[in-house]
Amino acid sequence: MKAITPNPGEEEKQMEIEAAVWNEWYPVAIMEDIADGRQYRTRILDRQITYGRDKDGVFSASLADGSATACRTQTCYHTYWVSLGEPAEGFFALPEFEEADRRVLGLGSVQIHASGLRVVENFLDMAHFPFVHSGLLGEVPNTDVKPYRVVHDKENDEIFAKDCSFYQPMAGAAAIGGIDAQYTYRVVRPLSSILYKTSVSDSSRRDVICLFSQPISEDWCVAHLLLACIDELNSDSELRLFQQTIVGQDLTILSNHLPRTLPLDQKFEVPTRADAMSAAYRRWLSDKGIAYGTYRTA
Ligand SMILES: [Fe+2]
Repeated sequence: MKAITPNPGEEEKQMEIEAAVWNEWYPVAIMEDIADGRQYRTRILDRQITYGRDKDGVFSASLADGSATACRTQTCYHTYWVSLGEPAEGFFALPEFEEADRRVLGLGSVQIHASGLRVVENFLDMAHFPFVHSGLLGEVPNTDVKPYRVVHDKENDEIFAKDCSFYQPMAGAAAIGGIDAQYTYRVVRPLSSILYKTSVSDSSRRDVICLFSQPISEDWCVAHLLLACIDELNSDSELRLFQQTIVGQDLTILSNHLPRTLPLDQKFEVPTRADAMSAAYRRWLSDKGIAYGTYRTA
């Protein structure tokens, strides 16, 4: 456990953060969203940090608590990552980012008044498509979530929802009609998840959408979204606009959902077959001893 001291001027509080959370890598920015020679400020786990690229394009980050202590950083999957602690060796594999014919781009970073865990859980949920993303990712009366498989890859400690399919009137920016979109969800870290979804341009391949959440505090996060897709038709701004429309719709429910943190105790929400991945995600977090960003009764 690591004791967090408050930032100057902040309300006096002392919070214990479990090692699994403290020693994790967290995203702070998508590569194209920052300029060389500028410093930016953000928060991770309630701590202020500054980050940026110098004039030579070298990225660094440090605590903004007066000590200017350097943080560990890495650049991976088009994203800058920072750790406040001592992260384990190795990082999850995402080979699609290396494929020559894929377009890799940031879809935007959005601050959300909800725990990053809550945002990942929403990302894994198909049942809301016809209601929240009506006309795009779903449509009434096609509201049934078909059975899918939840798989725990114990070797890499990742969880998957496989064989998911959902009828989507407009599955992506390139869509010109409805398709039965095939989905695979993959959770690689408590706050990092990846969606592999039928490519509208090439039905034999999957587009990759990444949700990397940055925990600002227990109930605020920044959702960084990235895309590695097969699409020769749409401009970057068209691809971003489509995804930002989806995110805007999710924001309305995420910002109004209480509690803002994620209950791990299954008794808080009624599990249904459609929620199998959500239930697996909560169990997986619970088994890791994750507390930060979860709902806890006094
Ligand atoms: Fe959504």
